[in-house]
This record gives sequence, structure tokens and C-alpha cells, in this order.
Amino acid sequence: MARRSSSSSGFMAELKERIISEARVLESPGERTPTGIRGFDELVRGGLFRGATYLLSGVSGAGKSIFCLEFLYRGAAEYGEPGLYVSLEEHLDSILRNARNFRWDMKSLIDRQMLVLLDLSAVAVGERALSLNPDMFALDGLYTTIETAVKEGGIKRVVLDPISVLFLQYGNVGVVRRELNVISGMLKRHGCTSIFVTETEHGKPSITRFGVEEFMADGVFILYWEPEGEKRSRYIEIYKMRGSSHYEGKKRFSVTDNGIVILY
Ligand SMILES: Nc1ncnc2c1ncn2[C@@H]1O[C@H](COP(=O)(O)OP(=O)(O)OP(=O)(O)O)[C@@H](O)[C@H]1O
Ligand SMILES: [Mg+2]
Repeated sequence: MARRSSSSSGFMAELKERIISEARVLESPGERTPTGIRGFDELVRGGLFRGATYLLSGVSGAGKSIFCLEFLYRGAAEYGEPGLYVSLEEHLDSILRNARNFRWDMKSLIDRQMLVLLDLSAVAVGERALSLNPDMFALDGLYTTIETAVKEGGIKRVVLDPISVLFLQYGNVGVVRRELNVISGMLKRHGCTSIFVTETEHGKPSITRFGVEEFMADGVFILYWEPEGEKRSRYIEIYKMRGSSHYEGKKRFSVTDNGIVILY
């Protein structure tokens, strides 16, 4: 009995300390980092929260990878924040070819290690980097690879594109969700602002493909690529942004040769 009360008082003391230290968060409004994407930071009242994890969802061709590349490019070129792009599906040469269309000098950023690109597409690494134990620590290899790159490169912005591939690869949605939460927690500890990309399917109304990705993110942004008459138009929606007000509703955007521009 005595033992129980002493350990419970120890637990209470620890809990109280933890509550007090966590409560310090209330004293600061949260530091923001602008994405630099023209028109976007206004939609979220000044940029993303530093150290938070965001989810970017949308159908194929909606502009997700371009959005993420620009987030990293502007972060490195304009805000001095080194970025890491982890490609889980598309080959790096294809991503770089995509970026070459824009008036961005990615090469000098890569040469100066302000931009680190990691090709972890299934074809590039097979199962090796991603899988140790399919049930318990399915994404251990991914965790270690990312943490090493983050620590060695002093990385401040991270993109995982797309995480949907991991759900497809492992099948166990619960395990992948938990592991992604662990990766997100590690990125937070290193002060990285991160975007996880997830795909939605054409014609399906859901926000994310597996219906679980949105719960683990501090914010969710949706890109639409919608048919209008004989053409298609691009829209963006801030669906969720913890700790901030934001523009409500869809805004039109376009992809120009200088990146994304939010319109009206
Ligand atoms: N320089 C450019 N100017 C205008 N539009 C462009 C340019 N480059 C690419 N695009 C548009 O962006 C689209 C590709 O965008 P992106 O690769 O970001 O899509 P995504 O959402 O990542 O798709 P996926 O899910 O298939 O990877 C192209 O299909 C094209 O419509
Ligand atoms: Mg893409």
C-alpha cells in the first residue's frame, strides 16, 4: 500500500512537471515559417508553424510534388532553411526534370547542400531501406535514413512524397499510421517543418486515400484538379490548420514557369 502511494505520488509529481513544461507552449503563439509560395502564406495567416507536420493531399497531376519542391526551394533560397526531399515513388531524375521547367536554380542549392534529395522509390532501394520487421518496426529503415540525413544536413524542411505508397506496400494501415507518427515526432524534435504527401483518387470524395492520414497532421491542405467544361482548373483548400485561423473555402491557383501562384 505504502509502495503504491509513493509511486503514485511520484507519478503525480512527474505529471505535474510535465503539464507545467508543456503549458509553456501557451505563452508563445508558435513561430511561423513562410512557405514563400506566392499567395499561400496569406491563406494560413503568415506561414506554417515551425516544427509542425502537414499533409498535402490531391489527385494525380494536381500539383502536389511541385508545391513541395517549391516549399523546399524557397525555404533554401529565400529563408536559409536547408531542405530534404524524400521521394518514395517517383524517380529523382523525373522529379528534377519536372523542376527544370521552372526558373529555379536547384543545382546550386544541391551543390551547396541546401537541398538534399533522397531517392527511396521502391525501384531504387527495393525493400531494403524500408523494411526490417513487417509488423513491429516496418519503417525503421526509413526512420533511420531520414534522421541521419536531417542531423547531418542541419535540415529544417522535410517532404515525404507520397506516404500513400507505404500504406499500399504494408497493407497494415494501423502500423503505418503509428510509424509515420513516430517519424513525425522525430522531425518535430529536430525542429523540422514537414509536408507528407498523400494521394486521393479521382471521383472519390474522401480527403485522403486511407482515411487515417489526416488525423496525425497539424494541418491538411487539399489540391483539386477539377474538370470545368472542356478544361480543368486547379484549386487549393486549407482543410485544417491547428492553432490558427485560415482562409475557408477553395482558392484557385495556377502553375506558372516560376512556380505556384494562388489566384482568387
Ligand atoms: N512548367 C509548368 N508550367 C505549367 N504547368 C506545369 C509545369 N510543370 C508541370 N505542370 C503541371 O503540373 C502537373 C504535374 O504536377 P505534379 O507532378 O506536382 O503532380 P502531383 O500531384 O505530384 O501528381 P502525382 O500524384 O501523379 O505525383 C503536370 O501534369 C502539369 O499539368
Ligand atoms: Mg507527385
